[in-house]
Amino acid sequence: MADENTEFDPNKTFEAAVERSKALEADIAVNPKKYRVLTGDRPTGRLHIGHYFGSLQNRVRISKMGVPTMILIADYQVLTDHDAFDKISQNTKQLVIDYLAAGIEPGDDVIIYPHSYIPECNQLMLPFMTLVSNSELSRNPTVKEEIQSAGLTNVNAGMYTYPIHQACDILFCKGNVVPVGKDQLPHIELTRSIAKSFNKKFCKGRDPIFPMPQALLSKTPSIMGLDGNQKMSKSRNNAIFLCNTEDETAALIKKAKTDGERVITYDPVNRPEVANLLSLIGLCTKENPADIAARIGDRGSGELKKCLTEALNEELRLLRAKRAELEKNEDYIRKVLLEGVDKARAIACQTLDEVREAMNMKI
Ligand code: TRP
Repeated sequence: MADENTEFDPNKTFEAAVERSKALEADIAVNPKKYRVLTGDRPTGRLHIGHYFGSLQNRVRISKMGVPTMILIADYQVLTDHDAFDKISQNTKQLVIDYLAAGIEPGDDVIIYPHSYIPECNQLMLPFMTLVSNSELSRNPTVKEEIQSAGLTNVNAGMYTYPIHQACDILFCKGNVVPVGKDQLPHIELTRSIAKSFNKKFCKGRDPIFPMPQALLSKTPSIMGLDGNQKMSKSRNNAIFLCNTEDETAALIKKAKTDGERVITYDPVNRPEVANLLSLIGLCTKENPADIAARIGDRGSGELKKCLTEALNEELRLLRAKRAELEKNEDYIRKVLLEGVDKARAIACQTLDEVREAMNMKI
């Protein structure tokens, strides 16, 4: 790490975020109750194996370590870059089914809720907006990227301000650990800046209200789609979903892109498509991708795909069986959400009360 006297600020670099993330992970294992994890997804569709290996397994693992965990479904955020809203409710319930099937166990310390149901959380938006400048919002690299990739020409204010709303999501419950991918780091940075400004301006002579949340980066590198050259995502049509059947999984893998070379080798630079399929097998079987390649050898891409189909269907068998049970029980899914809403609101009311008091607005 660079020393503190140089102008270069190591905290701003990705490598520094990775280092901090490792230290955080080690401390969580020792002091789980010192932390509150806040994590979430937009309800834009079903979860796929990229989510599963990249974030879902991590969430299950951390919640089982005894860390209080809030899983928020960011339904308002869907409106910032999607015109369609007809499936939000359905997608929300499907997300809950995916979480539970993967091993998330809702209870006193693990809660799941949509943020649109927590008015006291959303109300933090107004004071928080006064702590952020316009130029800060328009500089946000993730927002810029999203505007560009969605081809938006007429950008709504929700798009520029959703990172402030994300700060409300994190700070209303005093979340201090946020497991995210690299693209979300600018939002965590903004959340920290809002927490700092709020504490500085409104908490003079009293205890600070908000913690400084930290990002927890996933150890799994981002999973490529079945086309092998871009991130797995629903919109790119290159994903295998947790809800796919075993036969659908086999058919999708059959169509996966490989290359003309017969002998299977693990060479991520020159053979990214084959390497991706080998990595996926490795994630299921915990084997080294190069060893898997050596075993398949000259049996070629047909054998590679057969191995992946078997490994993935095996890995997801229990999850899918549980998923099918949960799908039949919509009342239970609603109950999980409504209990999550009750618990999240109780926390939000408490924080809003402290915030009102600090801002001298109590009557
Ligand atoms: N922006 C996140 C995404 O697109 C979703 C999200 C909303 C979120 N609020 C959050 C993630 C708070 C972590 C913490 O996936």
